[in-house]
Amino acid sequence: TKRISLTDLVARKGAEPIVCLTAYTTSISRLIDDHVDLILVGDSLGMVLYGMDSTLGVTVDMMIAHGKGVMRGSDKACVIVDMPFGSYEESPEMAFRNCSRVMAETRCSGVKLEGGVEMAETINFLVKRGIPVVAHVGLTPQSVHAFGGFKSQGRTEDAAERIVEDAKAVAEAGASAVVVEGVVEPLGVRITKEIDVPTIGIGASPQCDGQILVTEDLIGLFAEFKPKFVKRYAQMDEMITTAVEGYKEEVRARTFPAPEHCFGYKGDK
Ligand code: KIV
Ligand code: NA
Repeated sequence: TKRISLTDLVARKGAEPIVCLTAYTTSISRLIDDHVDLILVGDSLGMVLYGMDSTLGVTVDMMIAHGKGVMRGSDKACVIVDMPFGSYEESPEMAFRNCSRVMAETRCSGVKLEGGVEMAETINFLVKRGIPVVAHVGLTPQSVHAFGGFKSQGRTEDAAERIVEDAKAVAEAGASAVVVEGVVEPLGVRITKEIDVPTIGIGASPQCDGQILVTEDLIGLFAEFKPKFVKRYAQMDEMITTAVEGYKEEVRARTFPAPEHCFGYKGDK
């Protein structure tokens, strides 16, 4: 089988919506690979898997370790790895050094980085040197301190205009797709109309060219906090609690392990 490439996905602009989810591990990657077009190894793993209060503490080494696991669990979806805070902003050269390491060590299909106008030069530098880039504008979580919290963006005319300029700048710089996060809905529509590459919405608009969610949010495994844009399609937290309670009762009652779980069981003594 051949993996879906970012080039394949660019051609999907205006056609069938692009289905994207995050994965951080081989097990989740295996479960979703047949059902999605794109798997993002998101730096949200800092919060979802490691309990950090933002994504700022995530490192390139963490992204590489999880990226490798996700690649081992999939062979169909396009796998994109997030570049963490501090690994790409300083200069195009620094970005190339870290992005090429991520590409070489994980063998993923491309990288994603946050930012608009200010990252356009870097995106162009990377794309011209063989690194496909997905951009990310609007509510960019690595700027949580600059925003003063996880707040929806583009609520004033000026702010909306700046986000449109960001999306246009990264698209013109050569980004293959643009994640549009946490913006007022009409802005999601407007950006989708005004750029030539696919928009991937999260808290944006159903008119975006694709959608993405954090898998743990969608299956109810990350209960800490639920942004407005998350829809729970399953309640895995309740299933896990029920399973753990069942195990606890059977251990206490000595009904687990049962004879079929034992080697050479001789009966009650
Ligand atoms: O880190 C992440 O999971 C993301 C997506 C939610 C877009 O950046
Ligand atoms: Na991210």
